[in-house]
Amino acid sequence: MNKSVFSGKNSVLDYLNPDKNEYIPLVEIPRVLNPFYNDKVRIYTKLMNTLPLTNVKSLPALNMLFSSKDLGELDQVNTLIENSSGNTVLSLAVIGKLLGIDHTKAIVSNEVSRGKLNLLRLFGVEVIVNKEAICPDPKDKTSGIYKSKILASKHKDWFNPGQYTNENNPKAHEKWTGPQIWDQTEGEISIFCAGVGTTGTIQGTSKFLKSKSNSITTVGVSRIPNNPVPGVRTKNLLEEIPFIWKQYVDELVEIGTKESFKSSLDLCRFGLVVGPSSGFAFEGLLKFLKKQNNLDKFRNKNGEIIAVFISCDSPIPYVDEYFEYLGESEFPKIENEYLLPKNSKSEISTFNTDSKYEISVRKAYNMIFKSNPNIVWSQVLSDKLVEINKNIKILDIRKKNDFLHYHIPGSLNIEYEDLEDNISKYVDILKSNKIIVVCNYGISSQSASKMLRDNNIESYSVSGGMSEWSRDDLPRWKPDICNLYQ
Ligand SMILES: Cc1ncc(COP(=O)(O)O)c(C=O)c1O
Repeated sequence: MNKSVFSGKNSVLDYLNPDKNEYIPLVEIPRVLNPFYNDKVRIYTKLMNTLPLTNVKSLPALNMLFSSKDLGELDQVNTLIENSSGNTVLSLAVIGKLLGIDHTKAIVSNEVSRGKLNLLRLFGVEVIVNKEAICPDPKDKTSGIYKSKILASKHKDWFNPGQYTNENNPKAHEKWTGPQIWDQTEGEISIFCAGVGTTGTIQGTSKFLKSKSNSITTVGVSRIPNNPVPGVRTKNLLEEIPFIWKQYVDELVEIGTKESFKSSLDLCRFGLVVGPSSGFAFEGLLKFLKKQNNLDKFRNKNGEIIAVFISCDSPIPYVDEYFEYLGESEFPKIENEYLLPKNSKSEISTFNTDSKYEISVRKAYNMIFKSNPNIVWSQVLSDKLVEINKNIKILDIRKKNDFLHYHIPGSLNIEYEDLEDNISKYVDILKSNKIIVVCNYGISSQSASKMLRDNNIESYSVSGGMSEWSRDDLPRWKPDICNLYQ
C-alpha cells in the first residue's frame, strides 16, 4: 500500500507530482443533488480541489515548469512572470520556489479584487497591476498576456510559461486527467464536461478520452456575459484563445453567476468542498442532459450513463463573492448580530426585502422603454438617443468603473455610498420620479430602494441586477468589445 509518505530532498515536489501519488479522487455526487438519478445517469466529479495546491491549474503549472526544466530553459532563471490572477500563478510561484526560482510576478487586471491580490501575496507572488479587462485578449498589445511575454524577452533571467500558448498546459491533462478518468470509470465514461478558460483542461482531457473511444461526448461550459465566474470565459472571449480547441468540444453550453455559486454551495454542504466554477461545470452538465430528447445513445452495456465533470478548486478564496452574488437568503442568520461592530456592508446584505418592490429585469425593461429590445439595441449600436418613459429614472448604484463599462441606456450613476451619505440632496433631485434602482447582482439595490422609499420616493429594485439584465441580453450602453463580451 502507498502510505503517502514523501521524504528526501525532493519530498514536496514528489508530493505535488501526480506520477508519484494516488489518483485524484473521482466521487459520485449524492443522489439528492442528481436530478437524473432515476434515469440511471451516474454523475461523478473529479476533485481537483484535493490536489496539494488545491486547484486544477497546478497540473499545467507543474507540466510547464518540469518540461522547461528538462529542456534547460530554467537554468539561468530567477523570475517567473505570467498573466494570471489566480490559481495558475499561485501554483507557479510555489513550484518555482521548489525549483530554486525565487521570484514570481503576476500581471493582473486592475479589476481584480483586493482579496484576490492578497491571496497571491500570501503565496509570495509579486503583483503588477495592469489596466485591462479580467479576461484579456492575448493578441492585444496592452494585455498582461502580451506584456508578460515582452518583459520576459527583455530580461535574460526571466521566464514566461505562457499558459495561453504553451502546449504543456493541455498536455498536462492529456497525461494525467484523461488517463485517470478513463481508468477510474473503467472505460465506461460517455460524457465529459469542464469549464473553459485557457481551454487546457477540456482540450487535453478530451484528446485522451476521444483517442480511447470516439463515442465519448465532450461538453464545454462558458459563462454568460457580465456573469463573473472565476477562471472561465464567455463564448466571445473564447474566440480570442490562440489554441485550436474547437475540435475537442462537441457542445458548448452557457451558465451564469448565481446558479454556479448556488450549486457549489450545495456540493460543499454535502461534503464536496468545491468552488464556484465546479458548480458552474455541474450546472453545465445538467443543462446539457436536460437538452437531450433521448439519453439512450449515452448508455453503456449496463444501461447506465457515466458522466464526469471537473471540480477545479475550493470555495475558500471566494467566500466574500458567495455573499455578494447570492445575498443573505442562502445563509443561516447570525443570532445577536447587533453585538458585532457596525459595518455598512453587512447592513446592506442583512436587510429584509419587500417583494412588492422587487421587479424582474423584464418588468423593469417594460417600465423603462417604449420600444422592444431589438429596436433599443439598434439605437444603442448606432449611437442614437434612446427614449425612456418620462416619469422613470434609472438609478445605477454600482461603482463608476462598472457603470462606465456598460449600463442601461438613460441611467444615472450615483454610487451606493454617495447616495447613503447625501440622501437628502438626492431626494430633492429624484423626488418627482419613479425610481428603478439597479446594482450588479440585485442585493444592494434592495437596500438603496428602501432608503428612497423611506424618503417617500416610489422606488423599485431590479432583481438579479445588471448580471441578470445581461443574461437576458437586454440593451446595454456602451457596448464596446469589453462591455458586451465580458
Ligand atoms: C478556477 C478555474 N481556473 C481555470 C479554469 C479553466 O481551465 P482551463 O484554463 O484549463 O480551461 C477553470 C475551469 O472551470 C476554473 O474553474
